[in-house]
This record gives sequence, C-alpha cells and structure tokens, in this order.
Amino acid sequence: MLYLRNLTYHPTASENGILKSINLDLAPQKLGLIIGPSGSGKSTLLEILSGLAEPTSGSLFWREQQLIAEEMQQLAGLVFQFPERHFCGGTILEELRLGHPELGIERVRHALSEVGLEHLSFSTPPHALSGGQQRRLALAVQLIRQPHLLLLDEPTAGLDWSMRRQLVNLLAKLKQHWTLLVVTHDALDLLPIADSCWNLNHGELKSIDPVALKSKVSTLDGKPPVYTK
Ligand SMILES: Nc1ncnc2c1ncn2[C@@H]1O[C@H](COP(=O)(O)OP(=O)(O)OP(=O)(O)O)[C@@H](O)[C@H]1O
Ligand SMILES: [Mg+2]
Repeated sequence: MLYLRNLTYHPTASENGILKSINLDLAPQKLGLIIGPSGSGKSTLLEILSGLAEPTSGSLFWREQQLIAEEMQQLAGLVFQFPERHFCGGTILEELRLGHPELGIERVRHALSEVGLEHLSFSTPPHALSGGQQRRLALAVQLIRQPHLLLLDEPTAGLDWSMRRQLVNLLAKLKQHWTLLVVTHDALDLLPIADSCWNLNHGELKSIDPVALKSKVSTLDGKPPVYTK
C-alpha cells in the first residue's frame, strides 16, 4: 500500500508550489489514475515517487514504513513519457540488462513474456521494433528490476488506436501482479481499467469517483458511449 501524506514540492526557483499538500492512498494490485492538464505537476509527482526528486515536505509510506528518496528508487520503476527515446542498448538483451549485467537469461525471458514480447530474438535492436513493441520493451526494462510500484507517464501518448488498446489490455493484465500509478492528460484510454482516480490541477490533487467519471465520459457531447465495459 502506498500512502502520500501532505506531500509538497516547491523548488526555490519556482514562485508557486508545484505540488500542494498531496494525499493519496493506493492499494496493492490496483491501478491508480491521475488526470491533469499540461503543467499541473504530473511528471513532477512521478519524479518524487520514483526517488529522482526530494519532496519539500510531507511523507511517503510503503505499507507502514516511511521511505526516503533512495528507498523509493528501489521500490518504484518509472516509465517516462516516450520511453523509447531513452533506449541506449544495441539489442533487446542489452537494453534489459543495462545497469544489471548480472541478470540471468531466465529473468530476461520472464520480463519479455510479461509484456508479450517472448517471441522476439534477444539480438533484435530496440529501434527495429514497432511503436507498441517499444512501449512494451520499456515496461519490461522496469519490470525486470521487480519494483513494487510501477509508475507510468502518459503510457499511451503517440500510439495509434490499436496499439493504445493493446497497451491498455497489457496494463490490465499487469495489475494482477503489480501496483500501478499512471498519470495522463487524457483519461479516455485508461479510465476503463482504473480502480482509483484523482484530478491534479495546479498541483492540487482531488480524488474522483471512477464510476461517476466513466458514465460522464461515455455520454460526452451526446456521442455514442466510448466504453463497452
Ligand atoms: N525543478 C523545477 N523548478 C521550477 N519549476 C519546475 C521544476 N520542475 C517542474 N517545474 C514546473 O512545474 C510545473 C509542472 O510541471 P510537470 O512537468 O510536472 O507538469 P505535467 O503535468 O507533467 O505537464 P505535461 O502534461 O505537459 O507533461 C510546470 O509549470 C513546470 O515548468
Ligand atoms: Mg509531464
């Protein structure tokens, strides 16, 4: 269980606070969805949760234990927005073993099968994969470390409709084993599989009821329902 208590982030360079007294509870094996417009602080929050930045004040807990940034780095795996832009391995195997050359072939195989890429050769260059496959590989790069918490920044951005649908199905499968926190400016893709939802606006986080939001989204503009679930 992840708990955030009165978390704030206010770098000295910034006139206003970027994150303002954030409280959030996320249960294990659930998908939490944070929806917010550009500049609302979504990526900043993920940077703090992944231990890349220190909060100005407030606390982070995993189960009953309060964690500092270094411990969050171990606990969480962050998949950046457009993660394929950060690939630096020459092959799938190199990409998965970056920073962990000791990882055995079985771990590599398992990570690839978790994201449905087990049929690919280890020697395939990451840049030879399709956009959807590259996103899956980026997920495997984090999963191979076996983090307790998987953080995803706009995971469906830039993918076409069918790849987005495949990725959403994959995330629905992954949450059977992992705890996921996803941030996005566009809830449409991920709302059907979200267990908890929040709105982030100017650094203020407010809980919203996913069921109420789903029915609202499905009747937007009088268009046919977006969701079939
Ligand atoms: N270290 C920092 N110092 C000063 N300002 C910062 C810092 N980090 C982020 N910001 C500002 O904080 C705000 C939130 O940025 P952030 O990237 O978290 O937003 P976002 O919700 O992820 O936006 P987008 O949807 O465009 O990715 C922005 O106004 C950004 O300029
Ligand atoms: Mg962002």
